[in-house]
Amino acid sequence: MTENDQNKPENENPDDETVAVATTGGGRAEEGERTPAPAPHPRPEPVVSPWNEPVVEEFRANGGRVGGVFEGGDLLLLTTTGARSGREHTTPLGFLRIDGRVYVVGSAGGSPRHPDWYRNLLAHPMALVEMSNDDSHEAVAVPVEGAERDRVFQEIVRREPGFGEYQEQVERRLPVVELQRSDLSGPAEVDNLADKLFQIHAWLRGQLVHVRREAELYLAGRESAGAAHPMGLNLRIRQHCLAFCESLHFHHTSEDTAFPQLAEGFPHLREPVERLIREHRAVDRLRGELEGLLTGLETADPVRFMAELDRLTEELQAHLEFEEGALIPTLAEIPFPPPGPAQ
Ligand SMILES: [Fe+2]
Ligand SMILES: [Fe+2]
Repeated sequence: MTENDQNKPENENPDDETVAVATTGGGRAEEGERTPAPAPHPRPEPVVSPWNEPVVEEFRANGGRVGGVFEGGDLLLLTTTGARSGREHTTPLGFLRIDGRVYVVGSAGGSPRHPDWYRNLLAHPMALVEMSNDDSHEAVAVPVEGAERDRVFQEIVRREPGFGEYQEQVERRLPVVELQRSDLSGPAEVDNLADKLFQIHAWLRGQLVHVRREAELYLAGRESAGAAHPMGLNLRIRQHCLAFCESLHFHHTSEDTAFPQLAEGFPHLREPVERLIREHRAVDRLRGELEGLLTGLETADPVRFMAELDRLTEELQAHLEFEEGALIPTLAEIPFPPPGPAQ
């Protein structure tokens, strides 16, 4: 058994009762996307519970190798964002790689309650995954559902029978979560802010493609099954939609701070920047519409649904394109990451 949540108290998020704060999501990747005078984004160190601390430290010190009870097991560090607190938490978890996909199981050591990291992922699907050999990447957490969950879980139990024992102890179905690697696409080499903007926009566009593909799959399955709840893919779509919406929100929050500073340094950008900031309000509404649209997916008319999804996608794309057209020539002159202070 490689999962390290077996002895955890039920609530690992002591601040979980506080009010939500700004999301992280794909935003992690854009921390550096700032104008020449960046205001640092306050980012407290993730919380690590005292019983996990030695494991986390050993993992990081030894490139992912951990001894003791975890010797030989596949372990990763998962950093999630607190469902209510917005505070980040790092948890060591055993994982399984099946058909090239990475899965973690919310066994919580056979506790009757889902682990906090799972509840966090449902609220904020973007997570940071640290694996061996310094492989650290963003991931979208997508719970596996329906028959697919049972197939994957069966394979997990075949390899790690302890998970089957945990399942027998509890009434809840142990959640199985795929951690879908979500590296930024776009230019491989980023050495200026224009590349950085392209990179983030490419990621956002990729998430929209994901949402569309999942929605198409769902609707096709619903048609062929002739039932309202045929495939249990709702959570999948929801997670991708949430990942997109949270990341877009975070991206625009940082742009709203950065753009006025940019216009101060480059007066020819004043007008487009004003328009972009106005557009951000409109995009915020579109984001809400997208979430609303997907909420009604189960009973939606497929043709109308896809037409509406395409309309929203086009409007979102139009914003990204205008922004790129207006800013890229100037941003290309600004190095990224910003040069460090002179010695
Ligand atoms: Fe924008
Ligand atoms: Fe943008």
